[in-house]
Amino acid sequence: MGNKPFVFGVATSGDNFTDRKKETERLLLNFQYGVNTVLISPRRWGKTSLVKKVCGLAQSENLKVVYIDIFSCRSDREFYDTFATAVIKQTSSKLDEWIETAKLFLSRITPKISISPDPTTDFSISLEMNPKSENIDDILQLPEKIAQKKNCKIVICIDEFQQIAEFSDSKTFQKRLRTIWQLQKDVSYCLFGSKKHLMNELFEKKSYPFYKFGDAIYLQKIGTADWVEYICNRFEKTGKHISEELAERICKIVDNHSSYVQQLSWLVWVHTDETATENSFKEAYQDLIDQNTPLFEKQTESLTTYQMNFLRAIVGGVESEFTKQEVLTEYQLGSSANVSIVKRALEKKELIEIEKRKISIPDPILKEWLRREFVL
Ligand SMILES: Nc1ncnc2c1ncn2[C@@H]1O[C@H](COP(=O)(O)OP(=O)(O)OP(=O)(O)O)[C@@H](O)[C@H]1O
Ligand SMILES: [Mg+2]
Repeated sequence: MGNKPFVFGVATSGDNFTDRKKETERLLLNFQYGVNTVLISPRRWGKTSLVKKVCGLAQSENLKVVYIDIFSCRSDREFYDTFATAVIKQTSSKLDEWIETAKLFLSRITPKISISPDPTTDFSISLEMNPKSENIDDILQLPEKIAQKKNCKIVICIDEFQQIAEFSDSKTFQKRLRTIWQLQKDVSYCLFGSKKHLMNELFEKKSYPFYKFGDAIYLQKIGTADWVEYICNRFEKTGKHISEELAERICKIVDNHSSYVQQLSWLVWVHTDETATENSFKEAYQDLIDQNTPLFEKQTESLTTYQMNFLRAIVGGVESEFTKQEVLTEYQLGSSANVSIVKRALEKKELIEIEKRKISIPDPILKEWLRREFVL
């Protein structure tokens, strides 16, 4: 079986990773020089892929990189468990060393270490029921202690960082992290996540502990030229052909949205025998919408009529001044007070995005799907 020419749905790497040269360089420098980084973008643009790539490049004898995904953490306790496990596991390679490190630096917490049937592959740490507050700091200090002992630097990457905003008493938790992290000398952090407004809130509000925590990178889309080269290449490599014009149209129709470019390219490739045609493109685009329909139905099924009407207004071309009387009437949005409530709710659901007062639907396929729904 050959390598899939296109990858979507999971973080990508190797031959399926394209461009991002500038961001890769900047992030790599931050890792190497211990600069804290905050990386933000809408969903599925390629944060995880980028950070994982840089992790691979940066990893060395003197620089250890720890990658943690906290998507499934629902509380600070789960965060501490996940954090301790990942830090210990990823800074040393042998089981004996794991246990030794845990004993040495987490002795006050008496962590329970559970080991899976195959001890070389997995283990996890869970903490005693209610560790005392000062003992919890031991966990946050763990990377610094390991770095000193091993005489190396450590970078901790935390994916889906916006998750911490959902913890109860999140601000106290954030303060605690920041207080400890900012004093560490041998450890730096790369915090990244997707719910853009949440990430913005965490890092841009003066009253929040993480305000100005580090180098803020707003990940941009991958440019058309890079995509076209990539798409054409992947076709050629697998014995098929696509014109640059058609490759360009793939990018355009999904607005250069990373995941969709890959998914649509894949579908065009599937519909192509030797050379991609107008027909392959059309069929693939329909497939793309069909394949995403269940997801869109789920995302929109619980929306109120006002919220749907608001989306309808955006699809209809409105991008600002939703509270003008004509707009309120035409799209049945209720009062202007109502509009701000609806706006906030949709933003929270990540269905709309507000940038420089302009409102848009960041997901190009969702937008097209809505357009078709509204016509019916
Ligand atoms: N550099 C890249 N080159 C090619 N394709 C990419 C690149 N980055 C991302 N993609 C495409 O986008 C998809 C999503 O990438 P990734 O999971 O890294 O994004 P993300 O921003 O972490 O998403 P999420 O917000 O869901 O966590 C990948 O499966 C791949 O199809
Ligand atoms: Mg991700």
